[in-house]
Amino acid sequence: MAGVNPYINKPKTEPAKTPFQITFVIEETGEEKVFVIDPKQASFGRIGLEGSVLDIAEGVGIEIDHACGGVCACATCHVKVTEGGASCSKATEDEEDQLDSARDVDTDSRLSCQCVPNGTQNLRVVIPAWNKNLAREGH
Ligand code: FES
Repeated sequence: MAGVNPYINKPKTEPAKTPFQITFVIEETGEEKVFVIDPKQASFGRIGLEGSVLDIAEGVGIEIDHACGGVCACATCHVKVTEGGASCSKATEDEEDQLDSARDVDTDSRLSCQCVPNGTQNLRVVIPAWNKNLAREGH
């Protein structure tokens, strides 16, 4: 079960109810992996907000670093949602505060544990190579 951060207000989000496609682009290897997420068959609630990009990634075996356990208290789960971002929950002030400490932030940047797609658009999510390296090297 996903953890809870007692220092922030949990955002109100709704996991997707209709099937959608999510493409993970793994910058480190150049691989692209495409999955169709059917909420009726996917079990959400593993980590991060229910149905978040991190939760989905865990379910399909895609590795995204998540040092704080998916509770919006770090920025290691930083990804870039380059397509379909409009169908995702809006970033809260707490998420933006954490993103302030991330490197290479741009308008596509999200914390994958806080970004919950509603299923109305397909998603393209880039997992930056440097993100993994930072976590491994302990910076
Ligand atoms: S895992 Fe720490 S903020 Fe997402």
